[in-house]
Amino acid sequence: IVVYAITPTYARPVQKAELTRISQTLALVPNIHWIVVEDSEEKTTIVKNLLNDLTYQYTHLVAKTPSIEKLKAQDPRWKKHRGVEQRNVALRWLRTNLVLNKDKGVVFFMDDDNTYSVKLFKEIEKVKRVGVWPVGLVGGYSVEAPELDPKTGKVVGFLSGWRSDRRFAIDMAGFGINLDLILSKPDVEFSYSAQKGFQESEFLVKFTTKEELEPLADNCTKVYVWHTRTEKPQIKKFVDGFEV
Ligand code: UGA
Ligand code: MN
Repeated sequence: IVVYAITPTYARPVQKAELTRISQTLALVPNIHWIVVEDSEEKTTIVKNLLNDLTYQYTHLVAKTPSIEKLKAQDPRWKKHRGVEQRNVALRWLRTNLVLNKDKGVVFFMDDDNTYSVKLFKEIEKVKRVGVWPVGLVGGYSVEAPELDPKTGKVVGFLSGWRSDRRFAIDMAGFGINLDLILSKPDVEFSYSAQKGFQESEFLVKFTTKEELEPLADNCTKVYVWHTRTEKPQIKKFVDGFEV
């Protein structure tokens, strides 16, 4: 089974550091196929060089967020959806290049700024339809996690610091979907018209129900991914002659 990790990314001073961190995590994962989608018109040298060094499978794509959908520097980050265009182009790549019932895999949306344990990928490999697990440091809570019925072991709700009434109160980093399911519903994509903060929930609703979710990471008791966010550096001078 192949884990298809889809990473939207955009140019900023910390981009190479972020991509270096997660690319080296992925080097420790067997059977990984990394799909990196740049939010730009053309492939950039920084990302091309970084991918060129890898010893595992990757696909390099571009998809520019339309300017009307893009966050302005002064905007609070919840104002616009992020990563929509990029994830959709990656979904289209999967649907064009892979074959239902032949290619076997699990799809995971791997934002470039989070922190991922290698252990997470062992869990992702177990996903039959849709698997879920806790995510640390998100939504104002130290951890968000699916809540299980202790008798049945099934997901009955979500521990979440923000709108726990969402059909699926799960961050993008908190679920994996089997490739079969992605390929068998070729029209399902992320959407700019989703309610703010409901991108994950509105996507998952198209594929599954709460009752069907597969709780992973030791019955959702272990944290193997953290919704970290890197501080924006205040750079006084861009020094010539270095690729940073
Ligand atoms: C939260 C979720 O963790 C995201 O998965 C979700 O896309 C986002 O909310 C949302 O509501 O849209 P957050 O940390 O606020 O995430 O988002 P970012 O990490 O800033 O962006 C998510 C991904 O999109 C990252 O991989 C980032 O590199 C990429 N991105 C962001 C772009 O490609 N272009 C941009 O202009 C901004
Ligand atoms: Mn993030």
